[in-house]
Amino acid sequence: MQDLTSILEEALAAFSAIEQPAVLEEAKARYLGKSGVLTEHLKALGTLSAAERPAAGARINRVKSALEEALQAQRNRIAELQMQRQLAAQALDVTLPGRGVSPGGLHPVTRTLERIHTLFHSIGFDVADGPEIETDAYNFTALNIPENHPARAMHDTFYLDPTHVLRTHTSPMQVRYLETHAPPVKVIVPGRVYRCDSDMTHTPMFHQVEGLWIDDSVSFSGLKGVLVDFMRRFFEQEDLQARFRPSFFPFTEPSAEMDVGCVMCHGKGCRVCSHTGWLEVLGCGMVHPNVLAPLGIDSERHVGFAFGLGVERLAMLRYGVNDLRLFFDNDLRFLQQFR
Ligand code: DAH
Repeated sequence: MQDLTSILEEALAAFSAIEQPAVLEEAKARYLGKSGVLTEHLKALGTLSAAERPAAGARINRVKSALEEALQAQRNRIAELQMQRQLAAQALDVTLPGRGVSPGGLHPVTRTLERIHTLFHSIGFDVADGPEIETDAYNFTALNIPENHPARAMHDTFYLDPTHVLRTHTSPMQVRYLETHAPPVKVIVPGRVYRCDSDMTHTPMFHQVEGLWIDDSVSFSGLKGVLVDFMRRFFEQEDLQARFRPSFFPFTEPSAEMDVGCVMCHGKGCRVCSHTGWLEVLGCGMVHPNVLAPLGIDSERHVGFAFGLGVERLAMLRYGVNDLRLFFDNDLRFLQQFR
């Protein structure tokens, strides 16, 4: 049998040359396994005399612990080596410039809202915000649309329960705002509104901006001045034509709808304006006394106007977008054009 000293030297040399955990375990089996070299020595103890056996056994055990220790040390070295290699492979140069980082942009509806906000703010309008879940009392009744009134059918309302709706317009904020602010008030209220409707020009959710100006001498000509000036600045067309057609809204009297000369064809007639040369852009009117009276506002003293405009409608016209639904698909190819 090979002598213990040379076994020890050979095994230590073998262990320290190995870099693979599996190969190291094979080497272990060769020396310390069931039919390993050292185990053979232990088995052979039986052939020694009783006097020789303890010393020989002790020597084998010393070699065995030396091997086990060397084995563990090598296991640790391999693990350390693997860690080093992994770290080297995963090294990052944090000083490299980023790859393909492109800045995002604001959604066209947000940009339009901001533009509307800026223009009205510049002529002294405050900005308020209101609930999207509304009671039918605010959404309809307080706006002079009593229960069972046919005007309720003008709105395709989402009812949450018999008395709560997703607001169909921002107009209920006229009432809410006047409950907490005494005239004079001059405010716009941007926000989401909901109607059960969906096609090329309707989506179940869209944005409106409500406007309200109540003071002791706000006239219909003031309304026309503010809105014509707003549209000219919004579309950046100094000579934009505008007209007001009589209309009906229960919460204004008189009521009107405002048209502007088609911003696409400048009034010549095109598909966008259905060859009329005009685009309908908003509803407006003088606030109805029936809306003001329950709020304790005397219509003899305080008068004012209100208007409501559709944000997506203005965004479509400003950016030349022909399908309303594009605003809500969030297709990056569409959105990236507004960076
Ligand atoms: N709330 C109306 C709608 O959604 C729009 C509107 C019309 C608002 C006339 C007004 C207004 O403030 O005076 O159809």
